[in-house]
Amino acid sequence: MIASAPAAIQAFEETRERTLGLVAALQDAELERVHSPLMSPLVWDLGHIAAFEDLWLGHRLGGRPLLREDLAGIYDAFETPRAYRGELAMLTPEPARAYMRAVRERTCEVLERQGVGDGRLTELVLRHEQQHTETMLQTLQLAGLNGSTDAAAPEPAAPSPAFTGLEFVEVPGGECTLGAAAGAFAYDNERPRHRSIVAAFLIARTPVTNASWLRFTEGGGYERREWWSDEGWAWKEQYDITRPGGWTADHRAERRLHEIVPIDPSRPVVHVTWFEADAFARAHEARLPTEAEWEKAATWDHQAQVARRFPWGEEPLAPGVHANVDQRWGGTTAAGAYPDGASPLGALGMIGDVWEWTASPFAGYPGFVAAPYREYSEVFFGQGYKVLRGGSWATQARTATATFRNWDYPQRRQIFSGLRLARDV
Ligand code: AVJ
Ligand code: FE
Repeated sequence: MIASAPAAIQAFEETRERTLGLVAALQDAELERVHSPLMSPLVWDLGHIAAFEDLWLGHRLGGRPLLREDLAGIYDAFETPRAYRGELAMLTPEPARAYMRAVRERTCEVLERQGVGDGRLTELVLRHEQQHTETMLQTLQLAGLNGSTDAAAPEPAAPSPAFTGLEFVEVPGGECTLGAAAGAFAYDNERPRHRSIVAAFLIARTPVTNASWLRFTEGGGYERREWWSDEGWAWKEQYDITRPGGWTADHRAERRLHEIVPIDPSRPVVHVTWFEADAFARAHEARLPTEAEWEKAATWDHQAQVARRFPWGEEPLAPGVHANVDQRWGGTTAAGAYPDGASPLGALGMIGDVWEWTASPFAGYPGFVAAPYREYSEVFFGQGYKVLRGGSWATQARTATATFRNWDYPQRRQIFSGLRLARDV
């Protein structure tokens, strides 16, 4: 948790530099365009980031009236779903940047005058902006735009022999812990921390790779009815889906997989829906892990019989050492490339690279209490969303924890989504 105003202000500055860096090279028209019906225009994200900050820090923490009451509705994510955001009378790019600056100035005044309080609202606002930078990266990828002027981070050596995502380690049955410990910041949906019991199971050492996905497509993955759920098959037929998002028809011939950037066979497959992940699992006599299984595989220290905050122990996450996270521009790295980030049981890459679909629907933990507002999580419970775990290459370090829960519809793949298999023992 952020403990002081100077630390908060510095973290806000670093995050803002990154947010604006993502769009620095873009023309106004590219910022205002609706690139996909699934995504907001990028300039909406900018105004929304500022409006959220003003609401929670200027207004709620600082007790001031909203800086721009007139914009509250336009930038309220719940009142105006993404599909309608192109039609809103939102700020154009320069006024949106000015609004961000003006809000930030008030935030700094509030923090300097009264400190961060218990730190929770400050963390919430900081992480909110960081989550929106990942959303903006999704939009940029869908639009085929590389808005960033930053180079990708250096890549680690690929393990040899390469992992495929079909190697398994055993996780002992018995107790496990779900959710965030008291004290540190966590979202309402990560609380309360509670115990669960799972039967012994196998978890894949790494996420499923592009090479394995290619074999699936070549083996009739998108044609074998018996591997698909009814809903998944209907979705696949309706949209004529034959390969992951971002692949071209040519990627289905293995020679070409190597030739065409950026589909690297040794990296985790990314941009697959829950429906596809579920079919892949069935084709391999496996299944997706439940959230309890995923969290146990990531955190359970069998020796000490406790759950760890990070898979690798108590050291804070070091991007590029423990996991592929926190990249401004770039993407996935070879599966299993971060041995220092292994879980106590030997699972690799549980944090970073790709979000991993789980079998679990998004719901509140027993005893859930909404905080600080119902629209963060609660209104999404029981609405058909599936939970994803572990963060992606684009997730910033604060959010990339073993208890963080992301969610999306099973037919979505604009997010950086992949999968890790589980299997009964
Ligand atoms: C946790 C990624 C599903 O984008 O809807 C951003 C994060 N919440 N602003 C989303 C969020 C409010 C949320 N996800
Ligand atoms: Fe938001």
